Amino acid sequence: MNFLPEKLYNYIVAHSEQEPRLLQQLTRETYQKVLQPIMLSGPYQGRVLSMISKLISPKNILELGTFTGYSTLCLAEGLQKSGEIHTIDINEELVDFQRKYFDKSGFGDQIFQHTGNALDIIPTIDKMFDLVFIDADKPNYSGYFHLVIDKLNSGGVILSDNVLWHGKVVEPLEDRDKSTKAVLDYNTLLKNDDRIETVVLPIRDGLTISRKI
Ligand SMILES: C[S@@+](CC[C@H](N)C(=O)[O-])C[C@H]1O[C@@H](n2cnc3c(N)ncnc32)[C@H](O)[C@@H]1O
Repeated sequence: MNFLPEKLYNYIVAHSEQEPRLLQQLTRETYQKVLQPIMLSGPYQGRVLSMISKLISPKNILELGTFTGYSTLCLAEGLQKSGEIHTIDINEELVDFQRKYFDKSGFGDQIFQHTGNALDIIPTIDKMFDLVFIDADKPNYSGYFHLVIDKLNSGGVILSDNVLWHGKVVEPLEDRDKSTKAVLDYNTLLKNDDRIETVVLPIRDGLTISRKI
């Protein structure tokens, strides 16, 4: 899930901020114990998420798709002192794993885990957000956008992951390929919605940054 040649990617990583040791441990344990560890944001995208969060300095962050908590911890690095990050995942088996690393990170008290389908949980969180990271199941991306846009402050940012979907967005669409269709529809939705301005970044599997006007 990386469009850059390996040599260039390694050069970029070497000249960017270093991945914190705790995230290296989290990655190791994810690869040892959890299925599909490739879903982790990883060291380069993780530093990008951290940097964007620090630039925004959000009071509240919403994350859809916690997995083992890697991106949660990257985003938490930019939180205001009294800020909160609400993170949602449908997989209840990951809750204890996430909590172990959240508590080791120093952000434990600021991180609120929600377990269940994000479509059901988003409407129950009565908060306004400055930063939203969408990284859950692709078929629901458009649904997530419609649920979060009114919970986003003006000037707030939505980051959407995997928007190039392994490059499939520019290949002929197969009838049964629901995920690619959903990503294509989502990218069109973001481009055409005049409540936001959007730029697609070719980072890892594609990361879109949309700012609410
Ligand atoms: C790509 S992983 C997230 C990776 C994580 N953000 C990171 O960078 O380390 C996607 C996660 O979305 C979760 N997920 C899938 N469908 C969901 C849904 N409907 N509601 C909430 N979470 C969902 C999966 O359980 C999985 O952990």
